Amino acid sequence: MSAPISASAAPAAFANENGRRQILVTSALPYANGQIHIGHMVEYIQTDIWVRALRMHGHEVYYVGADDTHGTPVMLCAEKEGITPKALIERVWKEHKRDFDSFGISFDNYYSTDAEENRVLCDSIYTSLQQAGLIDARDIEQAYDPVKEMFLPDRFIKGQCPKCGAQDQYGDNCEVCGSTYQPTELINPYSVVSGATPIRKTSTHYFFRLSDPRCEEFLRGWVSGLAQPEATNKMREWLGDKGEAKLADWDISRDAPYFGFEIPGAPGKYFYVWVDAPVGYYASFMNLAECIGLDFAAWVKLGSKAEQYHFIGKDILYFHTLFWPAMLEFSGHRTPTNVFAHGFLTVDGAKMSKSRGTFITAQSVIDTGLNPEWLRYYFAAKLNSTMEDIDLNLEDFQARVNSDLVGKYVNIASRAAGFLIKRFDGRVQDSAMNHPLLEQLRATVPHIAGFYEAREYGRALRTTMELADVVNGYVDTAKPWEQAKDPANAAALHETCSVSLEAFRLLSLALKPVLPKLVESVESFLGIAPLVWADAAKPLSSASPINAYKHLTTRVDPKQIEVLLAANRESLQPGAEAAAPAATAKKEAKPKQDEPDVISIDDFAKVDLRVAKIVDCKAVEGSDKLLQLTLDIGEEKTRNVFSGIKSAYQPQDLIGKLTVMVANLAPRKMKFGLSEGMVPRPTRRPSRVSTFWSRIAARNRECA
Ligand code: MSP
Ligand code: ZN
Repeated sequence: MSAPISASAAPAAFANENGRRQILVTSALPYANGQIHIGHMVEYIQTDIWVRALRMHGHEVYYVGADDTHGTPVMLCAEKEGITPKALIERVWKEHKRDFDSFGISFDNYYSTDAEENRVLCDSIYTSLQQAGLIDARDIEQAYDPVKEMFLPDRFIKGQCPKCGAQDQYGDNCEVCGSTYQPTELINPYSVVSGATPIRKTSTHYFFRLSDPRCEEFLRGWVSGLAQPEATNKMREWLGDKGEAKLADWDISRDAPYFGFEIPGAPGKYFYVWVDAPVGYYASFMNLAECIGLDFAAWVKLGSKAEQYHFIGKDILYFHTLFWPAMLEFSGHRTPTNVFAHGFLTVDGAKMSKSRGTFITAQSVIDTGLNPEWLRYYFAAKLNSTMEDIDLNLEDFQARVNSDLVGKYVNIASRAAGFLIKRFDGRVQDSAMNHPLLEQLRATVPHIAGFYEAREYGRALRTTMELADVVNGYVDTAKPWEQAKDPANAAALHETCSVSLEAFRLLSLALKPVLPKLVESVESFLGIAPLVWADAAKPLSSASPINAYKHLTTRVDPKQIEVLLAANRESLQPGAEAAAPAATAKKEAKPKQDEPDVISIDDFAKVDLRVAKIVDCKAVEGSDKLLQLTLDIGEEKTRNVFSGIKSAYQPQDLIGKLTVMVANLAPRKMKFGLSEGMVPRPTRRPSRVSTFWSRIAARNRECA
């Protein structure tokens, strides 16, 4: 096996005399208007593994999270469901908590940004910034929905692409031709909320003066401490050269109606959701501190000895490396020790997709009976300390879980335990505990712990599996099944089983941050206390016998994967991808991961394409884009389809014509009625299959 290289240890500068560090850790707060999916889970699993690995050193670690509850999307989502935002966020909180619990995410507190602690903290931070002269009020002009009587974030305005003419494109970029533009450039813009044509309207907004030289100077200094070179480079790009004054002031207010906290001294003005979201980290921690009697102020004050880390996705780096540290710095708080950004999850090489069934919700994993620890293992095997995207390859997933976890690791215990129980009263041979193989394992465990701390989980697991290979090689050479045949070999058999089992204990220790539940069963099987890193040096002893071996884990059954994909395809609800518009007001748009230009035969096979006869076609009252088609595809009933093709056809010209329709697309409730399929639309570009697919993808992203 390769020589372990010591992983760079994290700062121990603040450790107390026992080497015990105080560490506050967060994961990004998921929006409260969508389900947790496995893309989110990459982050929570990554953070959880880190937290568990640090707790195993005996440090005082607190891991807090919360739902990100405020903002326009949550407000509109609740309205659509006919419930209050409070009722919506309460329900979603329970769903999120359930998902985190089932994936073993060990939050010390899971809270909500819509909490009193958060309001108090936001007010006090804002007031401090104001006193520091960093808040400005300014009049700005914005798009306004005159029917709904609200200002419209960019993502809530759609229209025709100014470059290629495609219909129903978002206010900031075109899904069809990929060009980006200003919402004002859209042709025939309309409000996604009411369908009305937006007007321009002026209103007073509050700004955090990030352009102030004090902010720039502070951020230039702070950036030098960032752990990831990619993040540092991004920051330098945003900061520009000295004197370039690249940082723009940040608009932190929104007008009513808005679900959020009203700004003190500014009636009708609310904190923009991205102001109170990161403060939510502190609110959750404050709530925890109140519950367990911790000195919250001592942890977050300027000069605090505690460490503070934020795990996030690369799409929200801007908020965590510019706004958040500056908010903290100029309100008299300590600033984050580090921000750790990860890449995005793809499934089978492509962006998660509802039509392929790869937009996999956390709950569907549980419902399918897949062990969430398998996914923890797989993600961990793929994760490192960079911002690179990671891919869940479903075939590789099955192969890796089956070969590593079952074939290499669990096998060691099942091979040794039987003999030890039957022949040796379940007790190990104490003299075997000094076997050179075990010394090799014990010497490697601290390196593995270091890899976890350095967020090099792939390396931690590779090293662990290399050790498992060595152990399996040892068992194969010793051949306990042969030794067992001759009573004269009893001592040798005892040694083999004892070495194997102690090796298994050490491998379990190495895997514990990733597989907490499995290792808990191992601990009860071995009759030992919960493992911590220091236990590497505390071998099994004949004084306490092991318990009967019980099955520890099963193999992934390929059928489960099929069921999982089918379940997520079936749950294809129009607008279910509405979690995406929730990302609305982000400064940095989610990285665009284009659908591949070609589709596989499997993708194609999923689509029920039918030749349809257009038996009727008429214009839709109140819509200047849609035609209503009545299609006969040989079923008992005709299908009703709304299609944005009005600009290309006269309704009467289409009656009696044949078209192609996708017959198994989930029906979609539209403003004008139910649409029960989709027909191709003319484009100005040469018609490509992918154009059609990207339309479907775009359609599914819309909030119904
Ligand atoms: N609410 C904000 C975060 C506020 S933090 C003060 C938000 N929410 S989110 O629900 O869109 O995303 C939550 C986290 O999950 C983010 O860090 C985001 O990067 C991450 N991910 C969401 N989809 C993901 C993938 N497909 N892959 C990996 N991480 C993903 O952003
Ligand atoms: Zn376009």
